Amino acid sequence: MSEIINGKEVARALRESLAARVVELDKKYGRTPNLVVILVGDDPGSVSYVTGKAKAATEIGIRNTTIRRPDTITQDELLELIAELNADDDVDGILVQLPLPKHINEHYVIQAIAPEKDVDAFHPNNVGHMWLREPMLIPCTPKGIIKLLKESGTELSGKEVVVVGRSNIVGQPVAKLLLNENATVTVAHSRTANLGEVTRRADVLVVAIGKERFITADMIKPGAVVIDVGVNRDSRTGKLCGDVDFEEAQHVASKITPVPGGVGPMTIACLMENTVECFENRVNKR
Ligand code: GUN
Repeated sequence: MSEIINGKEVARALRESLAARVVELDKKYGRTPNLVVILVGDDPGSVSYVTGKAKAATEIGIRNTTIRRPDTITQDELLELIAELNADDDVDGILVQLPLPKHINEHYVIQAIAPEKDVDAFHPNNVGHMWLREPMLIPCTPKGIIKLLKESGTELSGKEVVVVGRSNIVGQPVAKLLLNENATVTVAHSRTANLGEVTRRADVLVVAIGKERFITADMIKPGAVVIDVGVNRDSRTGKLCGDVDFEEAQHVASKITPVPGGVGPMTIACLMENTVECFENRVNKR
């Protein structure tokens, strides 16, 4: 049986250390970090994510506001709101929950956020800095995955790592961060030929494809470390499940993240860390 990588625990420890850091920042600057989350519409998944982010922020001592707007908001109105928050010196972090309604261009919205307040690290400036290995904000889920791998004592240098999925939010940035850790990285995706052959090469397998039970036990090298980024509804039980068939995979992998309780809590904790980093970068620039 594999060891379960407990993301909930690692995330709790990170949140505790951030809470202590916020107390120190308050003493030093007489102000705590301030995060504003914009939620457009009422998609239940997005509402649930945003609620989780607000709860974590409050527990850490990060001031936070969720601004809700109906899905009839125009792109110009949303851009106007972001411009106001950019100009507000008391706002350290801005997050626009995705996805946005179809009539709004996500790229324009992401580019409108001031890069120094971009806690998601989705702005092209931040993406560019990350790819050039310049110290900057790192997107939350990839950052959380690297922390989990390090916490679990997984060696990355010289190892074969396969990332399944090539999204801008997870697959591509995590591949780059793993390359920075001196892993030999392959990015596979839905069109990869002989996917099982590719994934079976992996000492570390990171899966972010968004399909329930997509990775079966026969696609995993015995003893591999498996990181499951998927958040899906199990069509059999209705419960949350990942992209990996956990029941089977836990008999093959040496270490594996569960869903829920693996990568998810790390994403939120890293968002909090990014908010604190944005605050520190801003006060240090003055
Ligand atoms: N929707 C799904 N994941 C994310 C994320 O990491 N950030 C934002 N802003 N929206 C999301």
